[in-house]
Amino acid sequence: MTAEAPLLQLLYISRNLIPEERLDAEVDQILAAAHRFNPTKGITGSLLVSRDTFAQVLEGPRDAVEALYRHLEHDPRHADCATLSARSVTERKFGKWSMTYAGRKDSLHYDAAQFATMPEDCADLAEVFLGRLIDDLAVNEPG
Ligand SMILES: Cc1cc2nc3c(=O)[nH]c(=O)nc-3n(C[C@H](O)[C@H](O)[C@H](O)COP(=O)(O)O)c2cc1C
Repeated sequence: MTAEAPLLQLLYISRNLIPEERLDAEVDQILAAAHRFNPTKGITGSLLVSRDTFAQVLEGPRDAVEALYRHLEHDPRHADCATLSARSVTERKFGKWSMTYAGRKDSLHYDAAQFATMPEDCADLAEVFLGRLIDDLAVNEPG
């Protein structure tokens, strides 16, 4: 993959507020919106869903990613967006699709507060958690 100007790779989790019976249909709508909009701004990423949590990676030009994040933070289908990691990267990890659907994983629970108060000496644990989450998000990236 060709290297690009520094990109922002942002990983957040949020509390999923969509009732179970509407979850599939709403996720379809979210993905459709992402597939329409994200390519116009050079944004790619991945979305993971559980009964009570969303996890999403957004990658792209810094201004575009920040603007999209500010926009979707106000989406009433979720709440309490918490940034877990925001870093500059030179290559995309989720570059093949405007928004990969990493599927549903009900073992994922919203625990941003817990994460935010993780003691300094648990930095390794935080890394492991983030690494696992990123692996989960990458799982269905089409070849
Ligand atoms: C968890 C979650 C992730 C979303 N991801 C994206 C995305 O990557 N791109 C996008 O355009 N909209 C995304 N949306 C949808 C936006 O919040 C919003 O509904 C969409 O941009 C349409 O905006 P509008 O209703 O103001 O036109 C997401 C929504 C949620 C709840």
